[in-house]
Amino acid sequence: PPKGPLSGKRILITAGPTREAIDPVRYMSNHSSGKMGYALAQQAVRAGAQVTLVSGPVSLPTPGGVHRIDVISAADMHEAVMQHAKNNDVFIACAAVADYRAADQQPQKIKKNQQELTLTFVKNPDILADVAKMQQGPFTVGFAAETQDVAHYAKDKLQRKGLDMIAANDVSDSRIGFNADQNALHVFWSGGDQLLPVASKLEVASALLTLIQQRMSACQ
Ligand code: PMT
Repeated sequence: PPKGPLSGKRILITAGPTREAIDPVRYMSNHSSGKMGYALAQQAVRAGAQVTLVSGPVSLPTPGGVHRIDVISAADMHEAVMQHAKNNDVFIACAAVADYRAADQQPQKIKKNQQELTLTFVKNPDILADVAKMQQGPFTVGFAAETQDVAHYAKDKLQRKGLDMIAANDVSDSRIGFNADQNALHVFWSGGDQLLPVASKLEVASALLTLIQQRMSACQ
């Protein structure tokens, strides 16, 4: 990797959606395109870091120099992240992980022979919270995608999950967030916050990485 402000740092990033199978032909997912997480991976490499990207199903090329691990479901993503987290200095959870999966994945295609269909979903493991709980784990950065009371929910997640930093993303604004090429974040840590105004996802990624680097050196 090139020499830069993150030289010598190992960064693990999740990106994209997860897919939770319902039967062999159907799944539940969300609108994450992976663009924000891939922008973080690209800019972290440019800043000199060694980057591992755990990616849900997206249609983006792998940025140069990035080690990419493809996963489908939240359970797969959890396994890959837990395997790599201890070897990294920073973990950034940018993926839109499905909070629930089907309780019973049907082995055959569900037939449409009834007027109503009821499915039961059970909770998925919380990848971000599990990394934050690790002894001597990485500097842990979460995202919070919210449609209302963005700052309030973000600060609550920062405390409740014991994170080092959280980036609040107001996804009610269609110019930014899911699938857009631009983003804006309100970043919180214990004792401070900063607004990263609307810009391309590459520029926002770069600004977030600078903040991470500043907080890490302040904490040392
Ligand atoms: O991919 P793009 O189209 O570029 O869109 C970018 C984005 C809007 C998806 C991204 O900027 C973003 O906000 N990602 C987080 C989306 C999300 O699922 O937020 P959440 O508030 O539901 O989750 C909170 C945090 O916990 C996130 O860091 C998430 O990665 C993590 N999480 C959630 C559930 C779970 N089971 N495991 C997790 O690690």
